[in-house]
Amino acid sequence: MKTANNIYPIFDRMQQRSDKEALLKQRSVMVWFTGLSGSGKSTIAIALERELHQRGFLCRILDGDNIRSGINNNLGFSPDDRIENIRRIAEVSKLFVDTGIITIAAFISPSNEMRKLASGIIGPENFLEIFVDTPLEVCEQRDVKGLYAKARKGEIKEFTGISAPFEAPENPALRLDTSVLSVEESIRQLLDLILPKIQRTE
Ligand code: ADX
Repeated sequence: MKTANNIYPIFDRMQQRSDKEALLKQRSVMVWFTGLSGSGKSTIAIALERELHQRGFLCRILDGDNIRSGINNNLGFSPDDRIENIRRIAEVSKLFVDTGIITIAAFISPSNEMRKLASGIIGPENFLEIFVDTPLEVCEQRDVKGLYAKARKGEIKEFTGISAPFEAPENPALRLDTSVLSVEESIRQLLDLILPKIQRTE
């Protein structure tokens, strides 16, 4: 890993995370969704943000296709590019979490190594790993973007679940199978997990 020379970050005189959390009357956390394409990560992330927003919490979603058309538009899907994708997302997420914002990421992030990298950057104490564990058959049947069909025909290389691996998380904070749970039920479970961590008592 390259480290920067002649760079002197200034953090001590800035307002701290705790100041920002107090301003926002919340505590920040990273909600990291991992799962196959079409598993329901974005749908749940959007519904979760809506619910939290309605309860007065400031959130920020970072989502695969959006980030990949902006800050990460020079990255593909090779193992190295996926790692760099996740590294940048984690660094950006860290800025949001340090600003006191509840940060919600929806990326395939297909390996334990990538998720460990993200958790290491953001801080494991801030990091809630949520496994959207919808079976491949269901994701493929949904095929919302038509990408599974293309992957089966060989038109997309290294497609996660078809021609590239997905490693199930070993110890997720929560596991949601959207083929059996409604969005409402998934959100109920997520709120049970997240609300106690972001609410302030004082
Ligand atoms: S990750 O593996 O690097 O975490 P990310 O979540 O950013 O992936 O992007 C996944 C999205 O990119 C998918 O939902 C799909 O729309 C699109 N995509 C395009 N090519 C691929 C591919 N080869 N594998 C997986 N997703 C792909």
